[in-house]
Amino acid sequence: MTAYARVFHGTAFTSRTPAEIDMLPDRLFCVGEDGVIARIVAPEDADYERLVRTYAGGDRYRRLAPGQYILPGFVDLHVHAPQWAQAGTALDVPLYDWLNTYTFPLESRFADLSYASEVYEDLVGALLANGTTTALYFATIHRESSLLLAEICARRGQRGLVGKVVMDDPGQTPAYYRDADVQTALADTEQFILSVRELAKTVKQGVYPVVTPRFIPSCTDEVLTGLGELAAKYDTHVQSHCSESDWAHGYVKERLGQNDACALHGFGLLRDKSVMAHCNFLSDEDAALFARTGTAIAHCPISNAYFANSVIAVARRMAQGVDIGLGSDVSGGYSPSLYDNARQAVISSRMLEDGVNPALPAADRGVPASRITIDEAFHLATAGGGEALGLPIGRLAEGYVWDAQIVDTAVPGARLPIFGAEEHLHGIFEKIMYLVRPEHIREVWVQGERVHTR
Ligand code: GUN
Ligand code: FE
Repeated sequence: MTAYARVFHGTAFTSRTPAEIDMLPDRLFCVGEDGVIARIVAPEDADYERLVRTYAGGDRYRRLAPGQYILPGFVDLHVHAPQWAQAGTALDVPLYDWLNTYTFPLESRFADLSYASEVYEDLVGALLANGTTTALYFATIHRESSLLLAEICARRGQRGLVGKVVMDDPGQTPAYYRDADVQTALADTEQFILSVRELAKTVKQGVYPVVTPRFIPSCTDEVLTGLGELAAKYDTHVQSHCSESDWAHGYVKERLGQNDACALHGFGLLRDKSVMAHCNFLSDEDAALFARTGTAIAHCPISNAYFANSVIAVARRMAQGVDIGLGSDVSGGYSPSLYDNARQAVISSRMLEDGVNPALPAADRGVPASRITIDEAFHLATAGGGEALGLPIGRLAEGYVWDAQIVDTAVPGARLPIFGAEEHLHGIFEKIMYLVRPEHIREVWVQGERVHTR
């Protein structure tokens, strides 16, 4: 019989399709030494009892207690790691002013490695404690301190995809926080890619370099072209912001005479492993271009409520077949929790569908067919994120990695309102999605290794 590194015995939830949850009662999740789920065994399967007898009582076997459930680890498709230092603050002005007044000054401080280390250690710990097992990070323009973030992810056991931010346009960036010139920006990015690839050789869960132009407004055409070439040369992930706000969307149209999506495509930045944040003002044609190139959207619903001047048509984009996942956008979004963001994704979609101006007649107030369900929001936070990144993560299924969170609905002093044995599993799932806080997340696992316990 195959020897598994771990066997987890309990009830789990995982996304089957964007709209449907698979509920898996009392399964055995058999995980290999490589951290991959080798088998999922159901109570009716022939060797279920034999496996339980073989593993029960040993140190490789983990039986969940009553009230505990397994969810896939969350995939955060958009986090600005340095902005953790201002999370929950500075939300009072529009995007352009926010960048120049608060964010660029803050990010410029990350030239200091000891400050960077303090903030990044704390953020990675906070994300893991919130169930986020994979994160796609913007660091800052500083190569060394961006590498430090990748090293911290590596050591803490989180799957980190990290970008050294590029912003070189003197017309749109301050002298104190800007790449020196096009050549330096590209050389630093190339060196960063090579350093992270070297680091990755020793990291079980993987770390990945990401080509990261901040957004078109902060970058020259020359640097954008060079970054597209680097992404192709090294076949890396790519991330940026796309059509986020009225100002950002309008700026690109004015400068380049086309929408963000077409412009990014022209620079070679829309690729199968590209993830573009926000995308609120995408046209249907832009979205079709995303679907064609395999580019994904990082939907950042909390941040959008502050900076996007709009609610993204997420149901419409899902129906168009665009890959979509969820992003916290710390600190445009104040919360490091994808639970919070999944909740906001549902709430915002409902407000878009119904509309918000009570002075209008109901029939004129909203955009029909805009709502998404909490099941769909869960899909975005898990399998959708995994598909966006092209990695075998975000599902509890054979061949996927064991990235998981063990949620305890019966924490003393913080029990979820689940009463009686008659509660349907889907109801429990919904209560978890709406009511879980970090105190309920007992354990977090990445690639078969435990990375957080409480
Ligand atoms: N656009 C360019 N930079 C940023 C950023 O840091 N946050 C958000 N939300 N939008 C941006
Ligand atoms: Fe952002």
